[in-house]
Amino acid sequence: MNIILTKNYEELCEIAAERVVDIIKSKPNAVLGLPTGSTPLGLYNELIKKYRENEVSFEEISTFNLDEYEGLDKNNPNSYYRFMFDNFFKNIDINGKNINILNGISDNSDFECDEFESKIKRVGGIDLIILGLGVNGHIGFNEPSNFFSGNTFRVKLHKETIVANSRFFNSTDEVPKYALTMGVKTIMQCKKVMVLVSGTSKAEAIKKAIEGEITPQLPASILQLHKDVTIILDSDASHLLNNKL
Ligand code: F6R
Repeated sequence: MNIILTKNYEELCEIAAERVVDIIKSKPNAVLGLPTGSTPLGLYNELIKKYRENEVSFEEISTFNLDEYEGLDKNNPNSYYRFMFDNFFKNIDINGKNINILNGISDNSDFECDEFESKIKRVGGIDLIILGLGVNGHIGFNEPSNFFSGNTFRVKLHKETIVANSRFFNSTDEVPKYALTMGVKTIMQCKKVMVLVSGTSKAEAIKKAIEGEITPQLPASILQLHKDVTIILDSDASHLLNNKL
């Protein structure tokens, strides 16, 4: 695992953005896996800035989002579809045809998940997946469990995740109880993985993920077995690590 310790969130986002731009420059039709949530917002802002300064074009890239809530349609302000458009896609030159986000209101979620996997295969796999980390160690919506998940699937969200994500909703009751998510196998098949971790609330989870045993109870720990992982942390997230780099 390549671990990059940054001073603060701003530096974390700058470094992450430089890496994404480098990948797109070396492969203009790169395939990216993208997260939502608070952590990647600064990265998306940096990338928009670099696009406006003509440092990068997203015209040929394809994207696959990690997950989507079940039951929220594209126009719902809390859907991840809306999040991606409002915070990233509408501000760059990406081709709408190349954007792939799971449909949270599909009436056949198994088919939706299988199609998503097939599309990833058709474009030759994901070159770089960017991940955030849940306070409970989840990646995508792969929650702590007794086994590591396989391909993209429908998942029941854990109470901890519902509570953590309720900050975006009017109340905890409004947070969907299920989601569609790339599975751990889907994530492990990506050629490169970049994990962004910011804030003290993530310090324990990232310590366990990097230094602890590999266990499905802490899904991110599986990344220890991936051959090309970069973890970018700010000082708040890294303060519990044994080995301060
Ligand atoms: C979101 C996702 C989640 C988040 C995680 C951290 O697409 O896959 O795993 O990355 O819950 O969320 P934030 O960044 O809001 O702390």
